[in-house]
Amino acid sequence: MFRLQCEAEEERWEVEALFDSAFGPGRIALSAYRLREGVPPVAELSLTARDEFRTLCGAIRFWPFLVDEEPALLLGPVAVHPTRQGEGLGGLLIRDGVDRARDLGWRDVFLIGDQPYYGRFGFSQVQGITFPPPTDPARILHFSPIGAECGLQGSAGKWSGGSGVQIQRRSDSL
Ligand SMILES: CC(C)(COP(=O)(O)OP(=O)(O)OC[C@H]1O[C@@H](n2cnc3c(N)ncnc32)[C@H](O)[C@@H]1OP(=O)(O)O)[C@@H](O)C(=O)NCCC(=O)NCCS
Repeated sequence: MFRLQCEAEEERWEVEALFDSAFGPGRIALSAYRLREGVPPVAELSLTARDEFRTLCGAIRFWPFLVDEEPALLLGPVAVHPTRQGEGLGGLLIRDGVDRARDLGWRDVFLIGDQPYYGRFGFSQVQGITFPPPTDPARILHFSPIGAECGLQGSAGKWSGGSGVQIQRRSDSL
């Protein structure tokens, strides 16, 4: 049994250590981090999962970014402690996070990852969007929590809207 809750400030370094152990401390050299530098993750979508002993078992974060000036979300990192993998926790964090993103009004969620894993949550490859090099285009995946087509095209750029991510309710304009 896992308990999901929004990441608290005092959990931050424990979560960072989990991500370091999953991806290696060199993870910040990954191209996706060019979009994250200096930008806070969406607080309502930064989730931790703890077991009945309050041990941190998994975590997920989402970042706001821009595609040709349009707001979108970048899923990740997401990691599950090696001793708790294969129990469905990764799926729980992803589904719960995407559901929360939908409730906040986000319509486009992207990630850079393995289609064989993320395809089961509805993520699929998209054309016409470029991320900072050296991103493999085949690993750029998209999912719309409201079931919309990906109407975005262009270059992924860093978020410039401050921390007021609530203003990005694009579903209002559907
Ligand atoms: C990827 C990760 C989050 C999955 O967490 P999890 O709790 O083990 O996932 P689930 O229990 O929901 O799903 C397990 C299933 O996903 C599969 N899977 C895991 N990673 C996969 C990958 N990269 N490609 C394809 N399938 C994968 C497992 O083989 C397993 O398959 P099964 O259901 O057929 O047995 C976890 O393995 C992890 O933290 N890995 C290291 C960090 C990482 O790669 N993060 C994702 C990239 S951003």
